[in-house]
Amino acid sequence: MEIIKTDVAIVGAGGAGLRAAIALAEADPKLRIALISKVYPMRSHTCAAEGGAAGVVKSDDSLDLHFNDTVGGGDWLSDQDAVEYFINEAPKELTQLEHWGCPWSREPDGSVAVRPFGGMKIKRTWFAADKSGFHILHTLFQTSLKYPSIQRFDEYYATDLLVEDGRCQGLTALEIRNGEMKQFQAGAVIIAAGGGGKMFPFTTNGNIKTGDGMALAYRAGTPLKDMEFVQYHPTGLPNNGILLTEGCRGEGGILLNKDGRRYLQDYGMGPETPVGQPVLKTMELGPRDRLSQAFWGEQQKGNTVKTPWGDCVLLDMRHLGEKKIDERLPLVRDLCISYLGKDPVKEPIPIRPVVHYMMGGIHTDVQAATRLPGLFAAGECACVSINGANRLGSNSLTELLVFGRRAALSAMAHLQSNPTPSSDAALAAKAKESQNRIQALFDKSDGTETIAGLRQEMMDTMEANVGIYRTGEGLAAACEKIAELRRRYANIALTDKSHVYNTDLMQALELGSMLDCAEAVTVGARDRKESRGAHQRLDFTARDDENLLKHSLAHYHPTEPPRIEYLDVVITKSQPGVRDYSGAKK
Ligand code: FUM
Repeated sequence: MEIIKTDVAIVGAGGAGLRAAIALAEADPKLRIALISKVYPMRSHTCAAEGGAAGVVKSDDSLDLHFNDTVGGGDWLSDQDAVEYFINEAPKELTQLEHWGCPWSREPDGSVAVRPFGGMKIKRTWFAADKSGFHILHTLFQTSLKYPSIQRFDEYYATDLLVEDGRCQGLTALEIRNGEMKQFQAGAVIIAAGGGGKMFPFTTNGNIKTGDGMALAYRAGTPLKDMEFVQYHPTGLPNNGILLTEGCRGEGGILLNKDGRRYLQDYGMGPETPVGQPVLKTMELGPRDRLSQAFWGEQQKGNTVKTPWGDCVLLDMRHLGEKKIDERLPLVRDLCISYLGKDPVKEPIPIRPVVHYMMGGIHTDVQAATRLPGLFAAGECACVSINGANRLGSNSLTELLVFGRRAALSAMAHLQSNPTPSSDAALAAKAKESQNRIQALFDKSDGTETIAGLRQEMMDTMEANVGIYRTGEGLAAACEKIAELRRRYANIALTDKSHVYNTDLMQALELGSMLDCAEAVTVGARDRKESRGAHQRLDFTARDDENLLKHSLAHYHPTEPPRIEYLDVVITKSQPGVRDYSGAKK
């Protein structure tokens, strides 16, 4: 097996991975950096982000306000030391992107423009029309090209971490174009491989988001934190789940039920505000968990619009006018016309909530360090945790910048304190185990389960039982089913045994990642007997701060469900309170 020796190996080349690579290359040009990704960097899911990135920049805003919005929005499950670090670094990172060439939209006076976003008390979301992720990713990618020390391994799928002498010392990865396994020996590894929304059938997530980075760390003994918190974005296209950015509502779009009523006023987010003048932090600018829950409420009351794709409500942007829609939301208009045949300039757009983001992920501390020495994580795959039980829109693009850089700094510090790698022989033995695992998939000739079949059953289970509102009964059924699917996974058959771009193999590996992550989600959700943020239980409707103001940590077991440990939330200055989005003056 070919050995590639490097100082830092980064798994994932989206926003967080690229930001980490640049930080490392800038800090020390002699560092060897391996940037490993299962797709070409510009295909990373950061590219799909639309609405923008939050960071205090205007004089009417303050770091305290950003802190309070984030912690309250997260239903007090955020670690406040992490939030403090995040809000302080956010403006620096967004300004740094500006200097690297990110074309942020501007105010008429030429300064950076900001738009309102859900759950934020003030306008603080920097944006590049509605293609913010695309421009951020381009900016980072083009900047990374300046550094020869960043060596890219595009279309390599990471299979296992190399853990020896109690620390992470690299990983194995398959070169997808020829099926060859490579061993990356590294002084430190950063995982920045995104979330796993594809375990659900209806999601804004691209096909690549299969939880591989989370599963890598999890199987290597690093717990996954707060996995039960899965975010539904309130406005997805109903036929394919493509995101219609919160920017639609930030710019003044409104949500209507089948009777043309702005129903959010019936769910503690009123009173009704004037059309075309979005009022911050209330009605359509409430947080995502509350808006998705309100949709469910309308569905229960029979107030939704029936469409060929299921129950919907309507996103009405007609009053914004063509000029504004074309300037601020050109991609949204294009998506509505291309995929639904409806022009938001002329008619309301049917939408429904869609799985968008995982608040949970690889447990890290505020330095982006995991419990496994030498392993760091950043971005959606990580749970640092700033997002708590419900992320506010536009915090995640900033998060991947802030903690991508933070992970790089921590990895460098780790390199300085752990200079001697284990022997080549010891690492080779570990790498061989990984190779054998993949080879076993090729060798198996009597497999009876299909990848597509198991994946469908997994998605159906998640959709039916782990949605916006959950019950103990449904979650118990989901736990049982996912455990069964994990057992049956041992019996899958590869129909393609070739080595060149073997997508059958890729899908098998991705399914394995999703099943492991799905089990952490379902068990975490079953055991969290309260309602908080995105985790709403019909059988435990109240938040339980006395017993469950805690993070859940899922510990991997190869054949059993995960063991759940609980960890105190870090509270520094904001005691748990009432989340108020009523718009009432205080
Ligand atoms: O609605 C959006 O543009 C999504 C943003 C986010 O998830 O942060």
